[in-house]
Amino acid sequence: MNKELRQAIIAGNWKMNKTRPEAKALIEELKPIAANASCGVVICVPYTNLETAVELTKGTNIKVGAENVHFEKSGAFTGEISADMLTEIGVEYVIIGHSERRQYFGETDETVNKRTKAALAAGLKPIVCVGELLWERECDITEEVIARQIKLDLFDVSAEDVKKTVIAYEPVWAIGTGKTATAEQAQEVCAFIRATLAKLYGQDVADAVTIQYGGSMNPKNASELVAQPDVDGGLIGGASLKAADFGVLLDAASNG
Ligand code: PGA
Repeated sequence: MNKELRQAIIAGNWKMNKTRPEAKALIEELKPIAANASCGVVICVPYTNLETAVELTKGTNIKVGAENVHFEKSGAFTGEISADMLTEIGVEYVIIGHSERRQYFGETDETVNKRTKAALAAGLKPIVCVGELLWERECDITEEVIARQIKLDLFDVSAEDVKKTVIAYEPVWAIGTGKTATAEQAQEVCAFIRATLAKLYGQDVADAVTIQYGGSMNPKNASELVAQPDVDGGLIGGASLKAADFGVLLDAASNG
């Protein structure tokens, strides 16, 4: 199956959670649990925990990601962090265009595209989030919305760089709501994303891209979701804050 052509990755998105002592405790708990995972393991943590996470995960199979990055190299952008600032301390991944950033912080496809290009130029692996609102799904325009996001968010990104990019399909109505997309719905949209990438970059490139599902993935529903042919792991919010739950998801993706 084509799943061998790419890596399944379980990425935790801690969002605005965990003080430094709490982060240390969770990472120490996670290390032995993650050690046998055959899927990729990433934890995306708040800026204040990045250095701690990089230090504590040295020599392990856990990679560290940030939750956002600015597109300029430096300058008068109060409160922002550049890609070079992240790579300098050993960060390897970054979430871009999460629906919470689009919803609460004015993120647009244009800024998602700029951030993605800046991240790639600095050697970071972006996890680019796309997903439809409930209303858009009800109006039966999910595919239009996703195609538009993929085209705009990856505008001017080369085929080589797209292979380094992870796409996270996160239906907005499923994030933090306890409402998960069915395995069938997740597969349908992840396959559509791959087909869209194939049109833009060719099938070989599309087959090499990791496409995750995200939105209320938990120990109960993970196996079925990650077993889908076009679902390569997940982007995990709530369930990434408990080591045991995250461990179940790692097992599911390792066997998926
Ligand atoms: P959730 O969050 O797993 O808590 O729904 C997923 C995400 O926002 O990436």
